[in-house]
Amino acid sequence: MTIQFNEETFRDDYSFRNSPWAIKRFPFPFDKDDYMYSVNMEPHAGGRDGSVFQNRFDVDEHYVSEMRDRAIVLDQDPLRCQSLPHMTLAGWDLLELIMVAKSEDYPDLFELHRDGDKWRWINKPLGIDDSFTFLDETTLPYGPMEYITRQTQGDFAVLDQRDDNLWMDAGMVTTQADWSLDFDIGMNFFEWHAPVPLAHEKGIFVRALKFLLNVQQGSPARRLNWTMTVNPLLDTSPENYHKWGVQKTTLTPENIGAKQHLRVELQTFFRLPRSNALVFPIRCYLCAFQDLMTVPKWGRRLHRVIRDLPPELLDYKGFKANHKLMLDYLSQYDDGLPTSPGI
Ligand code: HEM
Repeated sequence: MTIQFNEETFRDDYSFRNSPWAIKRFPFPFDKDDYMYSVNMEPHAGGRDGSVFQNRFDVDEHYVSEMRDRAIVLDQDPLRCQSLPHMTLAGWDLLELIMVAKSEDYPDLFELHRDGDKWRWINKPLGIDDSFTFLDETTLPYGPMEYITRQTQGDFAVLDQRDDNLWMDAGMVTTQADWSLDFDIGMNFFEWHAPVPLAHEKGIFVRALKFLLNVQQGSPARRLNWTMTVNPLLDTSPENYHKWGVQKTTLTPENIGAKQHLRVELQTFFRLPRSNALVFPIRCYLCAFQDLMTVPKWGRRLHRVIRDLPPELLDYKGFKANHKLMLDYLSQYDDGLPTSPGI
């Protein structure tokens, strides 16, 4: 299908918008009327046609504008992209994975031509046509991980696997929900998850790590995570908290429908072939409350989930101060009818 790319911003005038198509395919994350952390992993083996799960790397109407936003962030703060020296091979693995997947899944937008180690990559939406030698860094304008993730929506953590643990030794992180690659670089799975409440004592991270250590090449996995963001901001980093944190105080009963966004992360996990590293793409989808409310079962359920969320999660996800405002708005869309299980 041909995608119409939006002309839009995720900062300043916030002209970001979801088309009716994007609202329809929004990955609403709640399969019941309450929410608690769990090891909610499943195979990343496709999904309904047109859904965000259909392809290995989803490309949508926000592609070009998201890549523009990433370039702005990197220009202001190059440390959002880091790769420790032993991770270069994993970067090439990632470049190959993405180029092969995108050229197969979106042949009208991306082309990959390979003749031995001489590769040509054509990215039509971004106007790129580059020829390079695979595994020779001097033939690309950036390192391989940076090169390909400047052209792919979502953040990327690239994890080295050793000592029965995962280590955050490389990444491209410009659209994150309030965590920092520069802070976490070199940490292991338990260290970077240390701030998360309630999950450690439930044994969630021990089980999740066990699962991840066994992810096999060609059998990726996925899960959804979510939080809340005021204004359609991609870059909600600790580095820029002074710019976006204060925006949470601007919500009113009149503007909450347009300004408050549910932020859903489609997290996937792929084993990489040469390096045996694990790549963790984190794709962010934003949807304004007023757009979510156009789907009655989402309105009903979101009210119940947010109403009954444990206080520790309200705190950690950073919307305790706006909780009442949200409930006043959402309760108008909850008619009390029962909901069915499933999304
Ligand atoms: C939060 C990274 C896999 C569950 C986080 C945070 C990071 C992170 C950086 C933010 C922590 C902070 O507050 O500073 C990763 C990476 C993974 C991974 C790189 C892949 C290797 C998983 C898996 C689970 C999981 C498999 C499964 C249960 C969570 C939960 C949170 C979290 C529940 C809190 C999220 C929230 O409430 O918004 N993760 N994670 N993570 N992670 Fe992971």
